[in-house]
Parts: sequence; C-alpha cells; structure tokens
Amino acid sequence: MGVPARMAGSAPADRSTLFALRLAVVADVDALVDLEERCFAGDRMSRRSFRKLVDAPTAALAVAQTPHGDLVGYALLLFRAGTGMARLYSIAVAPDRRSAGIGEALMAEAERLAFARDRIVLRLEVREDNPGAIRLYERLGFRRIGRYLDYYEDHANALRYEKRLRGAGHSTAVPYYEQTTDFTCGPCCVMMALAHFRPDYTLAPVEEIKLWRQATTVFMMSGVGGCDPHGLAVSAARNGLAAAVHVSRDGSLFLDSVRDPEKRRVMTLAQEDFRRQTIAFDIPIFHTPLDVEAIRAALAEGALVIVLVSAYAMFGKKVPHWILVVGDDGRHLFVHDPWVEDRELETHADAANLPIPYADFERMARWGREPLRAAVVLKQR
Ligand SMILES: CC(C)(COP(=O)(O)OP(=O)(O)OC[C@H]1O[C@@H](n2cnc3c(N)ncnc32)[C@H](O)[C@@H]1OP(=O)(O)O)[C@@H](O)C(=O)NCCC(=O)NCCS
Repeated sequence: MGVPARMAGSAPADRSTLFALRLAVVADVDALVDLEERCFAGDRMSRRSFRKLVDAPTAALAVAQTPHGDLVGYALLLFRAGTGMARLYSIAVAPDRRSAGIGEALMAEAERLAFARDRIVLRLEVREDNPGAIRLYERLGFRRIGRYLDYYEDHANALRYEKRLRGAGHSTAVPYYEQTTDFTCGPCCVMMALAHFRPDYTLAPVEEIKLWRQATTVFMMSGVGGCDPHGLAVSAARNGLAAAVHVSRDGSLFLDSVRDPEKRRVMTLAQEDFRRQTIAFDIPIFHTPLDVEAIRAALAEGALVIVLVSAYAMFGKKVPHWILVVGDDGRHLFVHDPWVEDRELETHADAANLPIPYADFERMARWGREPLRAAVVLKQR
C-alpha cells in the first residue's frame, strides 16, 4: 500500500460522519482517483487500475459514501485463484474524514467480503513509517508475520500482517487441546473427542502420551512415530467411544515414504495387529473414503470425525496430519487442529474451530501420491 500523504493543516476530524458501504461501480472511478491523490504521496493506484479492478473477478473494491454522495474511503481486496488467502491491497479514507471509524468499517467490510469468497486468511503490507494504519490493523487483530525490505518506490520497508477470518462465527462445545509433541496429532484428536463425549475425562499431557502409545504404528515420517486410522479407532474404543474407520483401501498404510526395510516390517506388523484389534472392539472398517457430505451427515448425528489431511495444505510441511472436525455451517467444516504452527505468532484461537470451505477441505483431506484418504468417526457408545 502506498505512501500516505501528509494531512493539509490540522483539519478537525468530524467524528459524526455518516456513511454507507457498498461495492464500487465504474461511475466511482473519478472519485477514487481523486481520493487516491489526496491520500497517497507516492505508489498510487492509476485510473486504469481502478477501472480494471472495479469489475475484475479477482478483486473486490468496497467504498464508503456519505448521504451527500461523497466518496470518502475505499478498501481494495485481491484474490488469488486456488488459495484460501485474500490480500488487502489498499485502504484509504479522505483526510478530512479520518478518525470517525470509516477505516475500521472498511476493514470489517473487507473481512466480510473475503470470507464470503471462501478466503480464511487476510494479508496486507503496510509501510513501517505508517503508525496510524499499523495501530488500526493491530487493534483489529492482525498479527505481524514478517517484513519486506526495500518494498516501496522510495525504498521504505513494509511490515506484513495477517488475520484468520471467521465470518459470523460458529461456536462449539468441543474442548480444544494443543499437541505438545510433533507426533501426537492423532491421539490429541481422540482426546478432544473423549473430553467432549465423557464429562469425567480430563485433558492432560500424560493422557496424550498414553493414547499415543495405544495408537502408534511406531514409525512414521514425523517425529518418533505417528498413528494410523485403525490404531486411533482402537484407542478411542479402548477408552469408551464407538468408532468406525473409513479408509480408501485395505492393507498397510504410509509405507511409501519409509525407506528402511526394517521400519517397514515393524510398521506392517503394528498395523496388522491394529486391524486385528478392530475386530475385537467391534469397529467397522469401510473401504470407501468419507467425503464432505458424509462428514456433514456424521456431524448431524452428533459424531465427531478425525480426518487425515496433508499438512502441506495447512502449514507447508510434507507430513501426514490428523485434525478433528467439530462443526458445519452449510458452507464450511470447522476443525480443531491440534497443531499450533508457531507459538510466537499463533494462539489456540488460530487453531481451534477453524472454518475451512468445503472445496478446500476436500482438497486437503488426502495424503501422498496415492492419495490415501482416511477418517475415524467417533460417537458416544
Ligand atoms: C489508515 C486509515 C485508512 C485509517 O482510516 P480512519 O477512517 O481514520 O480509521 P478509524 O477512524 O477507523 O480509526 C482511526 C482512529 O480514529 C479513532 N476513532 C474512530 N472512531 C472514533 C470515534 N467515533 N471517536 C473517537 N475516535 C475514533 C480510532 O480509535 C483510531 O484511533 P488511533 O489512530 O489512535 O488508533 C487512514 O488514516 C488513511 O487513509 N491513511 C492514509 C492512507 C493509508 O495510510 N492507508 C493505509 C496504507 S497501508
């Protein structure tokens, strides 16, 4: 976003400014160009860009207008196809209308528009020497995620900010628990389900390790050993839940990525044992993957669903990962992701009850070249 222009004199802010928000139309372009000139001294958007972006499918341009028809602010969003991300490319409020809440209202509208377009993250860049805008973003819950050196025309640096979008929200009674090791995502999903279905159950790291020991196949790509769907179902059943396994095929899983023949042999035997135990625990195994519609149907019956996802889609790591699906709003599945990416930047609020648009979920819920699809449906017994 551009170099903010200095305000002419010290125009008293009109805190009572009335305004309405709407999407820009071609007839707004002159006013937008005028506003841009008054708001930015450099890195300005051109008339051509405004004209193009007004009806570009890859952009959304919201404007604030007074009852007299004056255009007093805009916020421009860009969407890149195939990502869950939107970028706030620019925001500006007329110098004589600042500090009246227009900036905040435009930001809220930008978040709403991005969420409505199935984006779950909003990113932006701001000049390091723009404390007013930085204050606005931080007040609205944007988190600093980095810095670009020499980013602007005049070589100023940019700070990068990001916010997870949640729309109108969805509340869940399912407790959240963050994994405390690299390899216990699956057992942590079982723990959250146990805490939901069993009022006597207490979430604690000692339980995390106990459940992991009950469910692990010993060797997997991440850490000292992840869990397969049969092991997770067995550990859930052992602790009092009804479980069903949905896996795209029969046989041993996750072996492609294990080079060491001895590890492969141990994993194969551990998985064979879990498959045998599913019979003892009366756990049905379906060799049909659970798609979004089937997950929604299970949720509607009061179940929670542990789903295998590619961690690559969630946080850029090529490891299999388990998340717990806890809700559905007709457009998104809501998940508790036991993994909190970077404790410096993320909090539980970023990983709990996270909305994922159906189409994105369908893309994420698979692992490897095969691809393998797996889920464990958990209910009260
Ligand atoms: C950044 C910008 C868009 C903010 O717009 P704005 O309409 O002034 O934003 P808001 O009114 O929502 O908030 C600004 C301040 O007014 C205060 N405010 C808002 N409504 C208020 C009210 N009713 N009464 C008292 N104070 C109020 C806010 O608390 C905030 O205070 P702060 O500056 O101490 O944090 C605007 O300053 C601007 O256009 N700057 C130039 C362009 C620019 O820098 N764009 C960003 C590039 S990244």
